[in-house]
Amino acid sequence: MSRSVFVTGGNRGIGLAIARAFQASGDKVAITCRSGEAPEGMLAVRCDVTDQAAVDKAFEEVEAQHGPVEVLVANAGITRDQLLMRMSEEDFLSVLDANLGGAFRVAKRASRGMLRKRAGRIITISSAVALRGEAGQSNYAASKAGLIGFTRSLARELGSRGITCNVVAPGLTDTAMAAALASERQAAMIEQIPLRRLGQPEEIAAAVHFLASDAAAYVTGAVLPVDGGAAMGH
Ligand SMILES: NC(=O)c1ccc[n+]([C@@H]2O[C@H](COP(=O)([O-])OP(=O)(O)OC[C@H]3O[C@@H](n4cnc5c(N)ncnc54)[C@H](OP(=O)(O)O)[C@@H]3O)[C@@H](O)[C@H]2O)c1
Repeated sequence: MSRSVFVTGGNRGIGLAIARAFQASGDKVAITCRSGEAPEGMLAVRCDVTDQAAVDKAFEEVEAQHGPVEVLVANAGITRDQLLMRMSEEDFLSVLDANLGGAFRVAKRASRGMLRKRAGRIITISSAVALRGEAGQSNYAASKAGLIGFTRSLARELGSRGITCNVVAPGLTDTAMAAALASERQAAMIEQIPLRRLGQPEEIAAAVHFLASDAAAYVTGAVLPVDGGAAMGH
């Protein structure tokens, strides 16, 4: 069965690997893209998740081409790392707005069609740092911890309508976001990971794909870590 799948930030990094995994299993995949070219075979809609009007317009486009969104992956995210003393209010709020506010905007809009259909899958992309914290990432960790409470609340609100809501919490993953870290910092972080390596975007995508599959029909409100063991116990 070919579903209408929408992945925010699906033009590159983890989001692109997620989009490709759904495409490979025959789903109709739409992604958001703020600039550049659309990956082949996918519907790319211009959308900044911090802009409600842009989100509404993107959903209209996706619905017109693929039908109501049946699987939503709220993946778009940013970092603006800085120690607390040097972090501006703008650094703090912009990360919350993109990472948590963005998920709120797209989940709210997607839930409309899912409620009507009495079925759907919402998957948010948090992080291994959400609950353990990370120096220099108070804004990012707050946004990612917020996503867990947000998604679990949705799981409670929407479960009776056949909609599952789950979180995937990646550890350090081999994308532009990880590449932005200084090499010494990256090496120190890898030292703390039991599996002693970065994750690959495809490994995160596999977990997302599972949560959207029939095999995960009875899984909701879960946080699935894909982090080489980095956040064990948190
Ligand atoms: N890489 C890691 O180590 C890691 C670890 C844990 C969690 N994560 C999470 O995984 C997700 C994907 O990360 P990544 O590593 O693939 O990062 P990335 O390579 O930096 O890609 C980020 C993606 O998010 C999109 N995006 C950012 N702000 C947006 C906005 N306001 N509106 C629409 N799209 C926006 C970007 O679109 P543009 O191309 O238009 O900028 C891009 O597609 C993020 O939520 C991140 O926090 C990553």
